[in-house]
Amino acid sequence: MTVTKQAFSLNFSLLSKFINEEEKNKYTNIISMIHQEMHSPTSKDCDALGWVDLAIKQDQKEIEQMLSVANEIRTKSAVLIVIGIGGSYLGAKAVQDALTPYFSKKSGETEVIYAGQNMSGAYINQLLQYVEDREVYVNVISKSGTTLEPAISFRVIKSYMEKRYGDEIKNRIILTTDPKNGLLRKLAQEEGYRSFEVPAEVGGRFSVLTPVGLFPLAAGGIDIQALLDGAKQATNDLMFSNYKENEAYEYALSRYLLEKKGYIIEIMASFEPSLRNVFEWWKQLFGESEGKDEKGIFPVSVTYTTDLHSIGQYIQAGKRQIFETILHVRNQQEDCTIQLMENNFDQLNFLEDKTFHDINTIAKNSSILAHYDGGVPVIQVEIDKLDEYHLGYLLYFFEKACAMSAYLSGVNPFDQPGVESYKNNIFALLNKPGYESLKEELEERLTEIFD
Ligand code: PA5
Repeated sequence: MTVTKQAFSLNFSLLSKFINEEEKNKYTNIISMIHQEMHSPTSKDCDALGWVDLAIKQDQKEIEQMLSVANEIRTKSAVLIVIGIGGSYLGAKAVQDALTPYFSKKSGETEVIYAGQNMSGAYINQLLQYVEDREVYVNVISKSGTTLEPAISFRVIKSYMEKRYGDEIKNRIILTTDPKNGLLRKLAQEEGYRSFEVPAEVGGRFSVLTPVGLFPLAAGGIDIQALLDGAKQATNDLMFSNYKENEAYEYALSRYLLEKKGYIIEIMASFEPSLRNVFEWWKQLFGESEGKDEKGIFPVSVTYTTDLHSIGQYIQAGKRQIFETILHVRNQQEDCTIQLMENNFDQLNFLEDKTFHDINTIAKNSSILAHYDGGVPVIQVEIDKLDEYHLGYLLYFFEKACAMSAYLSGVNPFDQPGVESYKNNIFALLNKPGYESLKEELEERLTEIFD
């Protein structure tokens, strides 16, 4: 089925060789039941479903506060350092990178840079050198307030800010964290830092439309109201319980049925390099929500045509366990046209008057056909253009699809027990008080492996 809307459309026609309507129909009732549960105020997961109607219930007061602080940052600083990891930075980075020019930034714009998403000492040192002659604000984002990567970066950056700005850091550091719990909330309360709230019932990877994503984006000059408007439109469009009227559910169901047939890897592909970090966000969303109980599709992303020249061969003819979702941007705001050349030295005059986007679109159609012929199920997602509104729509679409997809597989979309095991191990091995017995056990095992 192809659902076409001005802003957004999906094409599943190339799946008919792999899954049929009869198979899909069998899931009509179960999808409808999951939908009712997702939208019920008494749902068993109601403490994690706050993202479902965030864009509809916009808190105007909070939006104004974010815009006001963002405006202050844009007036007073050249750089905003956003400290966070996973769901606490990927959404903002995704939207920012999709909408920021590839090369030089407009002069006078505040640059948003990220810390706390890795533990490279070189990265943090070089970041501090980079901001040395630039005015700086900091936004530290951690719902729990205990995640190690952002916590150690914040410790270093906070000391730097103290030395550089003295008491003024109260204005220059903004915290985004749980409304009540955690060390960052305590810090905000005890030391008077300004703060925004990550709603208790919204988990990290579903939090891009809360201050986690919205505030840094506003500081970087992104139109957050348009982003929310797009998400709101998607919320309304994706309100139907029948998958035939709800593209998010049809996408979820198609993935689920493909997985059952052995297509256990989903490649998200685009011909627009600026979407690279939207895919990083998408990978976390689906990977962390679905990869449980030895279930789940492994999410991978590629940027074409670049990656056609690296792993294109595998996609075309390697082990047949992949399906591909191609995200296409229908119209480009900026383009470049191929001109006629008198001597035709490169014999490319047949491309006269074609734009890069025309050629890129033909490359997209060519690879869809080639991959399909090579036995790869292909889904196409199209957005009309790359702007805040369409990205807001897209982000919400994926969130809704992801929750349905995980529920269909019978896993909880909102926890991440696997990540918690890594977090516990690292704290134990680093001697965090309270982890003593785990430390002993892990050290014995490490001795067996490495000695
Ligand atoms: O989706 C999630 O919950 C995680 O990816 C978290 O966002 C990530 O681990 C960071 O957690 P926190 O915001 O508590 O520092």
